[in-house]
Amino acid sequence: MSLPVAVFASGSGSNLQAILDYHAGLDAPPWRVELVVSDQEDAKVLQRGRHAAIRARFLPAAGRSSGDVAGETLDLLRSSEIGFVALAGYLRLIPAPVVAAFRERMVNIHPALLPAFGGKGMYGMRVHEAVLAAGATVTGPTVHFVDEEYDRGPIIAQWPVPVRAGDDPHTLATRVLRVEHLLYPRVVDQFGRALARGCRPAPFSPPGTAFLAHSRATVDLERAISAGFAARTGAAAHGNGERT
Ligand code: GRF
Repeated sequence: MSLPVAVFASGSGSNLQAILDYHAGLDAPPWRVELVVSDQEDAKVLQRGRHAAIRARFLPAAGRSSGDVAGETLDLLRSSEIGFVALAGYLRLIPAPVVAAFRERMVNIHPALLPAFGGKGMYGMRVHEAVLAAGATVTGPTVHFVDEEYDRGPIIAQWPVPVRAGDDPHTLATRVLRVEHLLYPRVVDQFGRALARGCRPAPFSPPGTAFLAHSRATVDLERAISAGFAARTGAAAHGNGERT
């Protein structure tokens, strides 16, 4: 029996798609995406879940008490026997009782190098606008455990992405999102495998990290991702156009 995983998202769900695509290429993975949850009834992520024959649930949060949302969320997660939760662009704060029930079994991906450029209100293009306004030369996604505050839990994995001269928030977001699609499925897979065995996941070290760290200063990271990373993992280097 594989470990049931839930993905929470408010929008497009291209990270969900990346997780599903990655999962489809694995040989008998001991985990599966069992449930997709969104606080937005018309979110594309729900369509993606249904298209993949996954239970997809709209769970409204706006204007409701945190206690009600927590109760409904926990009922939903328990009824699907969810063992691990991945937030992927979910814009609501996870209620404390849900955090407590899934401590170290719930992660989030953020499109900047936390602890910089995170926290309440820091989502979507605002993150990339802030990175550019600060004059940062490197950005990139962070995967972290979820705690009671936005973007604050312990960091699990980060991946550097260069900021280029002439970038605008959209070009930067696109470059970061491509890396998210490489990073997040691998973190979910590592957690899924460990938790399916009843173990704590080992510290995450993305394949190719040493290569990237070694050559970060001089190598075009996109080329490195396409060539080095894909060669090491057999991963598709390019997202399919449907994800974004
Ligand atoms: C991603 O940039 C992720 O880092 C952030 O929200 C965005 C979600 O994108 N938390 P998508 O819905 O997966 O396309």
